[in-house]
Amino acid sequence: MKLNDFLWLGDLASDEVAEIVAKSRAMKEGVTPKAMDGKVAALLFEKPSLRTRVSFEVGVKQMGGSCIYLSQSDVGLGTREPAEDVARVLDRLVDVIVARVFSHRNLEILSEYSTVPVVNALSDLAHPCQAIGDLLTMSEHKGDLGGLNVAYVGDGNNIASSLAIACSAVGANFAIASPPKYKVPDISWETAERRAAEKETKLSWTESPEAAVEGADIVYTDVWISMGDEEEADERREIFESYRVSSGLMERADKEAVFMHDMPAHRGEEIEDDMLDHPQSVVFDQAENRLHAQKAILAELMTND
Ligand code: NVA
Repeated sequence: MKLNDFLWLGDLASDEVAEIVAKSRAMKEGVTPKAMDGKVAALLFEKPSLRTRVSFEVGVKQMGGSCIYLSQSDVGLGTREPAEDVARVLDRLVDVIVARVFSHRNLEILSEYSTVPVVNALSDLAHPCQAIGDLLTMSEHKGDLGGLNVAYVGDGNNIASSLAIACSAVGANFAIASPPKYKVPDISWETAERRAAEKETKLSWTESPEAAVEGADIVYTDVWISMGDEEEADERREIFESYRVSSGLMERADKEAVFMHDMPAHRGEEIEDDMLDHPQSVVFDQAENRLHAQKAILAELMTND
């Protein structure tokens, strides 16, 4: 695999997605290459983070390296300094840039203006590290990903975009229920469509959560108000009201189905109060698997000569 950056899953061939999931599994089973030995990662975060920051810091340390955390108030990406200059400075000082940004374009700039690998730790467009961890979680609970029926209920946001591509790439069927105004953006959907055609799987949109979830193996949701969407909070709460995942909705899925959420979760909003503790919930496995997935991604980038 020739991977220079990890910005979105559209850059990976379908088989490469499966390959990274297999490597994530190997990491979880105890294979930890010292791929970051003596190396430094800059963690450049414009938005808050728990899982992503901690799992990157732990993963880099386990692989022999160290991290420098840079918040938006430290760096001022695009405000205090243009992203181009930030990229050229970090390029001289660190070995990899892990960035969480509002605008995906800033990741592209960091990549264009530096020679070190850039990893997307969440942008408005995509959350590819989450999607790789999620495929690992799905495979742990449901076995072979090929032919699996994944239903996503809610906003067609960064999580849904990456998941649509990830599932299609590994041969899982992906159904999303969202209000028409909140569909997955064309660039992600069209990429997922190409992957689904390649793998002969189903990729579908519906307005109805019940229809999407019917017989599903996985029921997945995410927040209605992503970081950066706060100004639209009231409008979104109203529009998404019928997209809440409840134990009643889960009953429409396969009886062995699992419930997934990338977190943070808002009880009483996109999920009924006790969904995280639902017997079918695997959300904390998902959180842990971020570590294994990101170690696999970093190992791939750092050994990619
Ligand atoms: N869609 C959410 C994901 C958080 C991990 C957001 O962008 O805020």
